This record gives sequence, C-alpha cells and structure tokens, in this order.
Amino acid sequence: MTAVDPARVEALTARERAVFRDRHPASHAAWVDGQRHLLGGVPMTWMMKAAGGFPVFLDGARGARVEDIDGHGYVDFSLGDTGAMAGHSPEPVVEAVRRRLETRGGATAMLPTEDAAWVAGEMTRRFGVARWSFTLTATDANRWAIRLARQLTGRPRILVFSYCYHGSVDEAFAVADTDGKVVARDGNVGAPVDPAMTTRVVDFNDAEALARELAHEDVACVLMEPALTNIGIVLPEPGFLDDVRRLTRETGTLLVIDETHTLSVGWGGATRAWRLSPDIVTIGKAIGGGVPIGAYGLTDELAERVLGDPAADIVDTGGVGGTLAGNALSLAAARATLEHVLTEDAFDRMCRLSERFTGGVQRTVSTYGVDWSVTRLGARTEYRFTSPAPRSGAESAAAEVPALDDLLHVYAANRGILLTPFHNMALMCPATTDADVDLHTEVFAAAVAELVG
Ligand SMILES: Cc1ncc(COP(=O)(O)O)c(C=O)c1O
Repeated sequence: MTAVDPARVEALTARERAVFRDRHPASHAAWVDGQRHLLGGVPMTWMMKAAGGFPVFLDGARGARVEDIDGHGYVDFSLGDTGAMAGHSPEPVVEAVRRRLETRGGATAMLPTEDAAWVAGEMTRRFGVARWSFTLTATDANRWAIRLARQLTGRPRILVFSYCYHGSVDEAFAVADTDGKVVARDGNVGAPVDPAMTTRVVDFNDAEALARELAHEDVACVLMEPALTNIGIVLPEPGFLDDVRRLTRETGTLLVIDETHTLSVGWGGATRAWRLSPDIVTIGKAIGGGVPIGAYGLTDELAERVLGDPAADIVDTGGVGGTLAGNALSLAAARATLEHVLTEDAFDRMCRLSERFTGGVQRTVSTYGVDWSVTRLGARTEYRFTSPAPRSGAESAAAEVPALDDLLHVYAANRGILLTPFHNMALMCPATTDADVDLHTEVFAAAVAELVG
C-alpha cells in the first residue's frame, strides 16, 4: 500500500490555499466584512468550516451548478449537504413557490392547505407509514418522534448508534467509549444532562450489544439511519437490520428510521428499497426542493394511540410545536419536488451517475495503491481513508484525517468542484451530468497523483 506523507499534505494544502485566496477576493472581502455582526462571519456557524480558509460566497445556483461572487462556476456535489438534492431551484419548485407566494399569497397562515394531504399521501406511498405531520427541519422531526415515542411507551431512554448524527438532538450526541460507557460526543455544546441518563449507545452492526442494551426494557425507541451517513458511509451488514427489527419488537421498543440522507437509496429511501418496517419515519432536507421542511410519519396504530391519549396534549401546550411547521409554502414546494423532481426516473439516473462516480474514484485508488475505500449508497458516494470500508461508526471515526479532507476539498474547489465540507461525500441530483462526474474523476486522480505519485 502507498502511504500518504503528512508533510506532503501540508505543503500541498498551503499551495492550494494561496491559490484559493488569490482566486476569491470578493468572497474574502465579504467574509471579513461579515465578521463584524455575524457570529463567526457567517449566517450559520457550520459555514465556518471552509477548507480554503474562508467560505465561497454564493451568487446564484441552478441545477447542479453554483456560481460564486468572484464569478467562478462549480459543479456542486455537496448540494447543500442534501438540502438541494433535487438540484438548485428546480423549475417546478420555483413555479409552485411563486404561485403560492405571489399569485395566491399566504406563505404561512397556520391553516392547512390541500397540498399537505397530497404530500402526506405521497410520503405513505414511498415510505409505508400511514400518517404524517410536518416540521421545518429534520432535527425537529427527530425531536418530535422521540417525544412521542416516550409518551407512547412511558420509557425514559432512547438508543442510538455510536457516531450517528440526527441533527442537534441532545439525546443523540452520545457515543460509547472503549469500555462501552455512554459519554457525550467530543465538543458537544450545552448538554442539559449527562447523556448516560437519556441514552443507550451501541456500535452499528453489533446486534449482540443491541440485544444486551434493549433487554433493560427502558428504551422508548431506537433512532437510526439504516446506513450511517454522517461518519462516512457505513453500510448495514447482511441481517443486521432484520436483527434490529426483531429485537425492537421483542422488547416493546419503537423503531424510528431517519431517512434524511438515506433517501439517496431510492425514491422511497432505504425503507422501501430494503423492505424495512419502521414504526416511525423521519425525514427533512431534500423533500422541500430547497425550501425548509421536515416530516415524521407514524403507523396507523401509533397515530391512533397518540390521538387517543388523554394525557398527551398535541393540540396546544404539549411540547409538540413549531408555529411555522406545516406552512403553505413548504408544502407547495414539497409537492412540486415529489411530483416532478425527485421521481422514480430521477433516482434511476442519479444512482447510475453515482455508480460512475464511484468507479472513477475506485480506479484512482487502485492505480495509486492508496489504502482508501469508496462506498456508494444509491445517489450518494463517499471515500474514506481506510480499507476495507469501516463496519461501525467507531471504526470510521478512527480513519478520519481532517488535514487530508481539507486538501482534497480546496484542491477540488480550485478546479471547479464543490464537495461537502464534512468528510468526502458527493451527491448526484437530477441535473448532474456524466461530464460533471468525469470532471471529478479527473481532478481526484490529479490530486492523488500529486499526493503520492
Ligand atoms: C440523518 C440526519 N438526520 C437529521 C439531520 C438534521 O437535519 P437538519 O439540520 O436539516 O435539521 C441531519 C443533518 O445532517 C442528518 O444527516
């Protein structure tokens, strides 16, 4: 295997950052100016994560393409870290938003629209679970799912997999340490209580540990992605998801599947493609075509229990809220996205492109003999600096090389490609082309050649 020399990474990153700084005078000036009144110089602190030293400022975006305020164009494989999986400003969504906002009026009125029932029906067709409610983010959908699971089961804890991510959900910011003890994830901010009080944690793909932890019968729900996507991609091993469903059923634990990222597997997410049968599905990001929305869906049986629970006030002050949730604008956008953009045909195309992307990365990895792996999850692909591909979040976390991520990101940005700022994920949208993928293949090969060639 060919080793990567950290000194080489450092030297190349310094060179690429200097190029980046020279190419982006307008973005740099906007970022410096923003420092005065924006926390960290950006409107949302995640945007501080910029491999070039400061972020590229957005001018406009359409389909798979982004333009920055210095006049550079990019092929966008980040797609707003999945928020723009439908592509930027897809025409049907633009039309639906314009119709709602301009022609008919009423972005948010705390009144239902007919679009809501259409979207809910479509979500049932895709994900199976029967009754839906809407939020503004996937984080909120997960928080609500957890509250309802606790209410329904009367149990205090949830269970998550080490190195999962489900949004800023306090209970989910926990990992199991090397002794299996539940501890807060490094860098967690403002935890209300020790997460060991609220959460049990096991490794992904470890059914034995899951059985042990669920045997306490104090877990309201398992909250999981069917494949981890936020610590690289970690795929479930054969039989693992069956074990999860069997063990949750045997112990009276609800199963919440978070499809926010795994929607990439197909038009009904992993739930449909892998024939899963969750009690609750949560989702967000992509389904609004760029307009904020989240959703959670319950089985008929759970929906009846929630509606019939005299101790659960879901109408007024019971803690399931969000004034702008279910607003008319979000639902108009979601209807257009699901009806016309993220269709079955679109997923076929996106998955084919992702296969092409994966093949391109794999060829370079093999040519240069670097010890890396590349994993595909439908329309999403990710490479990781370890081989074989990790089996658990802990294994994947151990393979992190942030300096190498930074180099590959800034190298790509200087050559017209945006990757997610977090690890090395690339997502295809309906507007991505073969030529876009081939540009990445070429740039990635050039980067690896400079690194180890
Ligand atoms: C699996 C998963 N669930 C939930 C979320 C939270 O989404 P949002 O930040 O839109 O609330 C994320 C964000 O990356 C996610 O990856």
